[in-house]
Amino acid sequence: MQVAKPGERVDVSPLICELDFTPFRMRVSTERYYSREHHERERELLWMRAWQVAGRADELPAPGDWKEYRIFDQSFVLVRGKDGQIRGFVNACRHRGNSLCEGKGHATLFRCPYHNWSYALDGRLIGVAKPDFEGSIEDFVGPKQELGLVQIPVECFAGFIFLNPDQSAEPLASFLGEAVELLSAYALEEMVPVGLNTREPLDCNWKIVMDAFQEGYHIQGIHPELIAAMDESKERYRFFGDHSVATAPFGAANMANLSPEEAVEAIRFLPTNFPGMADVMPRFEELVNAGRGKDGTLEFPAGVTARALLQQATREILTAKGMDVGKLTDIQMSDNHFYLLFPNFFLTIRPESATLITAVPHPGGDPEKCIWHVTMFQWLPPEEREAHRTPITEIAEGQHVPYYITLEQDYVQMQRQQRGLRQRKLPYEALSRQEVRLAYFHSILDAWLARRAGR
Ligand code: FES
Ligand SMILES: [Fe+2]
Repeated sequence: MQVAKPGERVDVSPLICELDFTPFRMRVSTERYYSREHHERERELLWMRAWQVAGRADELPAPGDWKEYRIFDQSFVLVRGKDGQIRGFVNACRHRGNSLCEGKGHATLFRCPYHNWSYALDGRLIGVAKPDFEGSIEDFVGPKQELGLVQIPVECFAGFIFLNPDQSAEPLASFLGEAVELLSAYALEEMVPVGLNTREPLDCNWKIVMDAFQEGYHIQGIHPELIAAMDESKERYRFFGDHSVATAPFGAANMANLSPEEAVEAIRFLPTNFPGMADVMPRFEELVNAGRGKDGTLEFPAGVTARALLQQATREILTAKGMDVGKLTDIQMSDNHFYLLFPNFFLTIRPESATLITAVPHPGGDPEKCIWHVTMFQWLPPEEREAHRTPITEIAEGQHVPYYITLEQDYVQMQRQQRGLRQRKLPYEALSRQEVRLAYFHSILDAWLARRAGR
């Protein structure tokens, strides 16, 4: 399909009633959420071989800025080189394997504290403590060029740093496929964390987190305050490669059945959940008021809706602020799009803001624990970004600071689900149609593990 704007493909993707359910397996085995054997398979076949987000490129703004990324007990160093490129290395000295660094920092070179071997920012071994010993290295172990830090694939996309522990990984762009074009239309690399940027241990398997954000079916169960804002029958689903995206029309359920005044009121409520939309509202009100008669009654001309005015106001205001929204469709001006990039990158995105939720297995190795990281991003003009940037908060084990209401409901719910799912007599989860993305996600996971097990 040839399109002028990539989002047009999502705009016309099937509604749930149009989906062919034949390929989807609606039963998901439960042992994957607690079994140590399954967890070990995921460790070796998934996490050691998958592209995974390891941070934001703007966490390492200057050459020499570095940070550690850990997955299970494996540690990698990400560092921006003198050439501006971010590289990834196994966090172990080539001499006798000492761990080189921990946390984050800035360096002109990496010096191993054990025997003082040193490495350039591009990983080259540049110094061995004693020159006479250096000679013996060349004689007995091999040339210094072969003793640089072990490099692993690292690439940046949309302002995120992606890392893959597998040195033979396919390029990130080919793994992301259509997501590259779809997400490039947004200004993600210009967004900064604002308001929420928290990492916290959870008492649940990492997949429970990914599952929880791929369906809206639980809204009527645990988020009653969101019922009015959702109409799942209007959700559109697009599956591509290992990934998927869904979108739901923004505004009250069945907005088409509302009076103009009710539809406007429903849109007025949106900034409560999406603060980035607040700036658009004055222009939206202007456009709405232009449609009022002398007696104040609101009647839209044929073809005009409150939703269309929201789209127009959003495009105008964001353009005036300096954001390039030329590649985004009108639907993307108003509606949230929900991406799941396999395995653990869940992104809700709007033109001016986004929320990323990731979950990784707990470094301790317990399959019933994970670490999640929730970040709310907002687009701001360049001169405002640093003043509003929210640094990462690391919540210690056993501590908790409540999130905003719906996220807190999810936080409680996910850990409660783990307590049920670990019951050995429960064979499988039974998915509803509205949970089709979970069916897809788990099929991809199963296929991924089976394919790599045979490699
Ligand atoms: S282990 Fe690093 S210099 Fe010896
Ligand atoms: Fe939820």
